[in-house]
Amino acid sequence: FRGKMDFCPESLHYELLAEVGEGSFGKVYKAREVGEKQRLLAVKKFNFRWESEEAGIPPFMIREVALLRKVGYFNHPNIVKLLDASAVSIGSALDLTLVLEYIDQDLSTFLSKAPACGLGRDLIKDVMQQLLRGLDFLHTNLVLHRDLKPENILVSSRGEIKIADFGLARILTYNIALTPGVVTLWYRAPEVLLNSVYMSSVDMWSAGCIFAELFLLRPLFKGYTEVQQLQKIFEVIGLPSEDDWPQESPILYSESLGPRGSCTNLLPNLDQDENDLLSHCLLFNPSRRISAAKALTHPFFKYPTGETSIV
Ligand SMILES: Nc1ncnc2c1ncn2[C@@H]1O[C@H](COP(=O)(O)OP(=O)(O)O)[C@@H](O)[C@H]1O
Ligand SMILES: [Mg+2]
Repeated sequence: FRGKMDFCPESLHYELLAEVGEGSFGKVYKAREVGEKQRLLAVKKFNFRWESEEAGIPPFMIREVALLRKVGYFNHPNIVKLLDASAVSIGSALDLTLVLEYIDQDLSTFLSKAPACGLGRDLIKDVMQQLLRGLDFLHTNLVLHRDLKPENILVSSRGEIKIADFGLARILTYNIALTPGVVTLWYRAPEVLLNSVYMSSVDMWSAGCIFAELFLLRPLFKGYTEVQQLQKIFEVIGLPSEDDWPQESPILYSESLGPRGSCTNLLPNLDQDENDLLSHCLLFNPSRRISAAKALTHPFFKYPTGETSIV
């Protein structure tokens, strides 16, 4: 059985130039469009194998790719633009190809090139504002990213921030036989680490971790197991109260997970607005964590650097 879904009436034609990234689910290539435009493209190819007996493209995949396409075609300045999406199934194998606008570098590369004295405050503000605008747009369209981290945030040569690699988490966590890759825990919200229910607030946790990283130029919480990741988090934000701990979690509440009470200053050298926004992103209780829309109205974004806010 063969199946094909094409979302673009006239498919794009391109030639692959080089491999630019290799994830756990497939590869990303740099490509050039053939024909008049000669645009640079990023081509992301996934290979899946089903466990199920049924061949063809499963309905959830059709739904998810349609959603990606909807969000990717919207032309939001802070979301990487999806130009084409197609899937081909041959027996129990499925090839999914996404064609995206090509963006020069990701935030992780950008940060690795930052001067040792750190990024300027105006730049940090600009990056966060663009990131939050992109997240607000995704959340308004009911798309959770779930894997927001510097490698999944692109930085164009004109300084535009574009969120990449979104929405697919849901495709990938269905009943597909996955080759377990190395997935970083560093940007993961506590409710995800605790296997509890989660919502768009998981992305705001990650945004908080990235906000801190823009100051530190290194990840804020670097754990290598779920428990260690939680310990790193509680060292900074303090152990939450037992009432806030999700009841259904396989990791039981324990005083040994961290110190009680949080430091009032999460990072050294933050001013009041910076610290306040960061601490609202890094609230343990997801229902109290700030939303992207709310964060954009935070005083942190209101005043140009150098001026103090009037509280
Ligand atoms: N549109 C793009 N333009 C340029 N490089 C990209 C683009 N999309 C992804 N990349 C690069 O490829 C890497 C992997 O892409 P990503 O979409 O994050 O896939 P994965 O699922 O493998 O993490 C990214 O970290 C980034 O460096
Ligand atoms: Mg990625």
